Amino acid sequence: MTVTFRPLLALGLSAALALPLAAQAAEPEDAIHYRQSALSVMGWQMGPMGAMAQGDIEYDADEFATRANNLAAVAHLPWEGFTEGTLQGDDHGVETDALADIGDDWEGFEERQETFKQEAATLAQMVDDGEEFSALRRQVGAVGKSCKGCHDDFRAE
Ligand code: HEC
Repeated sequence: MTVTFRPLLALGLSAALALPLAAQAAEPEDAIHYRQSALSVMGWQMGPMGAMAQGDIEYDADEFATRANNLAAVAHLPWEGFTEGTLQGDDHGVETDALADIGDDWEGFEERQETFKQEAATLAQMVDDGEEFSALRRQVGAVGKSCKGCHDDFRAE
């Protein structure tokens, strides 16, 4: 087995611990396309909520609730596509914005995933609890911040 995520070994963890087993069998290009698709699904769901939060479109409670629930439901999907040999600088010939830093700081990348999943779950919960738009709007900001935080560290410009 070739090991790309050396820092994990330094910590005494095996790469298999961090990387989902099933996905490791996939070809790098399939994993890259998979995660990019899942991330576009997230972008699609986030878009209208962001637009409502910014006042670009009118707040629609039903649509907002659908988007918030969809986003929370898919929040765990992209990450299994970040398998060995699929980052920038790896030899796969596919265009990707996933920086090699992900491999150098796998733990930091996982923390970013967790923060995002929590913020998305909180938003869906707030919708469920019937919170006012002013509160939902703030939470959309927190979700957006969690997207941006990861992009700033781990995605190419
Ligand atoms: C844990 C890190 C992380 C989080 C959190 C995250 N992203 Fe990303 N995102 C990435 C990385 C890395 C890429 C580049 C993937 C690639 O090109 O292989 C990316 C790419 C994308 C893309 C482009 C997909 C494509 O078609 O190539 C979109 C859209 C996107 N993210 C939206 C979002 C939205 C919206 C959120 C929050 C709701 C979010 N992301 C949260 C890391 C993250």
